[in-house]
Amino acid sequence: MREVYLDNNATTMVDREVMEVMEDYFCKYYGNPNSLHDFGTKTHKPLRKAFDQLYAGINAREEDDIIITSCATESNNWVLKGIYFDEVLKNGKNHIITTQVEHPAISSTCAFLEDLGVEVTYLPVNDKANIDVNSLREAIRPNTALVSIMWANNETGVIFPIKEIGEICKERGILFHTDAVQAIGKLKVDVQDINVDFLSFSAHKFHGPKGIGGLYIKKGVELTPLFHGGEHMHGRRSGTLNVPYIIGMGKAMELANNYLDYEENKIRELRDRLENELIKMGDVMVIGKDTQRVPNTILASIRGIEGEAMLWDLNKAGIGASTGSACASEDLEANPVMSAIGADKELAHTAVRLSLSRFTTSEDIDYTINALDKAIKRLRSISSSY
Ligand SMILES: Cc1ncc(COP(=O)(O)O)c(C=O)c1O
Repeated sequence: MREVYLDNNATTMVDREVMEVMEDYFCKYYGNPNSLHDFGTKTHKPLRKAFDQLYAGINAREEDDIIITSCATESNNWVLKGIYFDEVLKNGKNHIITTQVEHPAISSTCAFLEDLGVEVTYLPVNDKANIDVNSLREAIRPNTALVSIMWANNETGVIFPIKEIGEICKERGILFHTDAVQAIGKLKVDVQDINVDFLSFSAHKFHGPKGIGGLYIKKGVELTPLFHGGEHMHGRRSGTLNVPYIIGMGKAMELANNYLDYEENKIRELRDRLENELIKMGDVMVIGKDTQRVPNTILASIRGIEGEAMLWDLNKAGIGASTGSACASEDLEANPVMSAIGADKELAHTAVRLSLSRFTTSEDIDYTINALDKAIKRLRSISSSY
């Protein structure tokens, strides 16, 4: 049976080229980069290269910081909790603005800060599943410490107006963080082109290894560390450097940028073909269809079919898809993005996300169209609500 992986917004396959550059740093050059012997110092050059690849990947300047973290969840937690120390406790700025559709790495951390007395405004999305910048303007208060808004949404793929949001934050003198986890590798991420103080990313979303990520911090911006210890990463994030994974993430970033045109053209074309064929199957609504989206994502509501049931049928056919954020879907609650865009409960429970990657082929798409057609016919024939 064919196997088709269409859950690339949850995680991606590690690129073989990434595996190859990492390999030597497990059993050959495994020294601690801080050690003075050759086992350690031989990691310096490849680490330098990896950092160069990361800086070039997001067009950061040499004087900015890119700090390695264990994942984007850590990067996001660090920004919000760091702001709690730096702005809330020290400066009395007690207000954070975010959206209703952030990943739980943001929303749960905000809920935690609310328990500590921080006021959080959660901006809604409009009927196009996008953020209205006027709602941001209206939400800003004299005591707003931070705006944290994702670059592209992990469920719908909708691209938020990050440039405008950055400008508004600059005008009002407010720090701006963006969770760019779903943007890297799917669209050009250039920190010189937008006003951003912090930007989170995670290697496993762009064909790098799991358990490694980063946080870009603009030159001169303070952020109290979460991890104190051996003063690694200029004292901003202590912990022995994960040499093979950093080298892998650097290579993955370089490849991600090399493939951007391919994503924009070929992957968009495959996605659009799959989406159009799915819509033709009838009573299918694609969320954010008329909005600017990353090229690889479809979030579709297929009337009369529980998302979970659809996943089972697709899985039996060898296709991996999702009902929404894989990290948050264990509780079988309606997909939160669907709820935020005002979808009724039935519509929300019928959401299925299909997310492609540069490894998705035209044959994979043919096969998936066929499997979806069969699954929709079978499941609707036994559905009590259709
Ligand atoms: C938008 C977004 N932010 C953060 C995360 C968390 O990333 P990580 O798995 O690296 O902690 C994810 C993962 O799904 C995501 O999609």
